[in-house]
Amino acid sequence: MTPSTGYDLAARDYDKKEKYLDSFEKNRLAPLLGDVADKRILDVGAGTGRLALRLEKLGARVTALDVSEKMLAELKKKYKKIVTVVGDAEILPFADRTFDIVLAAFLIVHLKDPARFFDEAYRVLKDGGRLVVTNINQKEPPAIATGEGTIKIESFYHRPAKIRQTLEALAFAIEAEELVKEGDAWVNQIIVARK
Ligand SMILES: C[S@@+](CC[C@H](N)C(=O)[O-])C[C@H]1O[C@@H](n2cnc3c(N)ncnc32)[C@H](O)[C@@H]1O
Repeated sequence: MTPSTGYDLAARDYDKKEKYLDSFEKNRLAPLLGDVADKRILDVGAGTGRLALRLEKLGARVTALDVSEKMLAELKKKYKKIVTVVGDAEILPFADRTFDIVLAAFLIVHLKDPARFFDEAYRVLKDGGRLVVTNINQKEPPAIATGEGTIKIESFYHRPAKIRQTLEALAFAIEAEELVKEGDAWVNQIIVARK
């Protein structure tokens, strides 16, 4: 199932996953973002706003973009004033050099070719701006229970080294990289790349 159809179906119950998603970050994402006060942040694949809302509370000016209208509608229910845009990560509807930070948490698992999104992120970042991406170690899409039955949303596995190389090939400078682990296995790659 495509992400827009799948996440529209999953939207109503999605906030129940907040702690589960947090567990893949183990509090290591926020310190990498640094002081976000007054920063213009584009949260791509923002979903129901798990991170977008925290960043707004810290004084950032967040734009939340997602292909799923229903996920963004859930976000709006929690905070009416947040700026939301229904759109595709691969064709960002913003002018060149608009944002200080582009954030994409648990997004690229849904992109067959993340380079297309990275290229767009580069374009909409200000010079010196940062792209912050998380890459979950997921080989098979999980079954998600929805009011309409159990669904699986199309997803793709990306090797951490390949993500790093792809960013570097697009002229990003890798500023930080962390592999979050459970025991010996990596569960999530967090990468910060500067334009
Ligand atoms: C696993 S959720 C993560 C939500 C949020 N970033 C978080 O960390 O809680 C992935 C989100 O990416 C969105 N998404 C998937 N493909 C997308 C695309 N091509 N463009 C924009 N959003 C997309 C989905 O609709 C969904 O809301």
